[in-house]
Amino acid sequence: MKILPYSRQKIDSHDIKEVTKVLKSNFLTQGNKVPEFEKKIAKKIKVKYAIASNSGTSALHIACLSLNLKKGDLVWTSANSFVASINCAKYIGAKVDFVDIDSETYNISIKNLEKKLIKAKKNKKLPKLIIIVHFAGLPCDLKKIYKLSKIYKFKIIEDASHAIGAKYYNSLIGNCKYSDITTFSFHPVKIITSGEGGMCLTNNKILKDRMLLFRSHGITKDNKKFFIKKNQPWYYEQQSLGYNYRLSDIHAALGISQLKKLNYFVKQRNKIAKNYYKLLNDLPLTLPKKIKGYYSAFHLFVVKIDFQKTKKSYNQIFKYLRKNNIWINLHYLPIYNHPYYKKLGKNKKEFNNMENYYKSAISIPVYPGLSYSEQIYIKNKLKKIL
Ligand SMILES: Cc1ncc(COP(=O)(O)O)c(C=O)c1O
Repeated sequence: MKILPYSRQKIDSHDIKEVTKVLKSNFLTQGNKVPEFEKKIAKKIKVKYAIASNSGTSALHIACLSLNLKKGDLVWTSANSFVASINCAKYIGAKVDFVDIDSETYNISIKNLEKKLIKAKKNKKLPKLIIIVHFAGLPCDLKKIYKLSKIYKFKIIEDASHAIGAKYYNSLIGNCKYSDITTFSFHPVKIITSGEGGMCLTNNKILKDRMLLFRSHGITKDNKKFFIKKNQPWYYEQQSLGYNYRLSDIHAALGISQLKKLNYFVKQRNKIAKNYYKLLNDLPLTLPKKIKGYYSAFHLFVVKIDFQKTKKSYNQIFKYLRKNNIWINLHYLPIYNHPYYKKLGKNKKEFNNMENYYKSAISIPVYPGLSYSEQIYIKNKLKKIL
């Protein structure tokens, strides 16, 4: 029997045709496919600027750099995320800290964030930047976080790696109405893929220009922006220390083709989620929270095991499902528990909700192409082991 992963890509003949066209063209990189991908994403999301990069991680890094993050600045993120959500600040030498999650949405807890901000203000240790994560595709409460950012004067990056296609009160996540920058990831497990790839979105021209520089070695070829005025046609100049974080045209062509199917992919994920809400209703599990006005992209479908109603251990359940080809995962181990971050010596008492969450959470398969009979199979295996 085939493996059922927690998520995966769906590639069709149109995707293959579009990538092949680039392979047969003159430009494998730095051609016109990347600008086309950027324009199409910006138009779809209704945001002014989109800057493609070669991963969600590099997108987060140039986003931090463009906000002038410096060594020693303080950055916070949710305890429940992939490490890239905070590594991006570490690359710059920032000091990092985490905020506990909400026990129902598994997103950053607004209550805990506010408490932590009040305390930080007293101690004169307010963060310069908070990176919020729309975990599993469910939007954070953007209006409330934005309001806090005005009071406590921090910048906001939305890590929307899980949430392209998600909606917050009818607006697509990524329009930056309540943030400085949003980032996407196009890794194959995500909603749409470009193989590897990422994107930064913003309405701020200065940030856009900085991100473009950092993406490509800190070099500009635009004579209107030169520090040293030269008329020679061959001239270009490096103005800051940048990277090669460019996306190739091969990847961009796949991204453009996948973008056409964004609505369909998100609908399919929501359809499977709807089936799961019915199929798993009477099992000893907590199903993902639904919030009125929010439309999740369901990058993940996380269920929490009710250990009061089942006598099995987390490991037994995990192993049994994997043995039966259901390739479930834990999203996520608290970031502060990774050996690299353990040296920060975080007090677990500050993260009660996260501690309870990760000991019982598993992500079960959700992706376009997961058939109804496979969903039934997953339900039956869950029922048996629980
Ligand atoms: C929340 C989150 N942020 C950032 C990333 C990094 O994205 P990428 O793998 O494209 O570098 C991921 C990828 O798993 C993610 O889940």
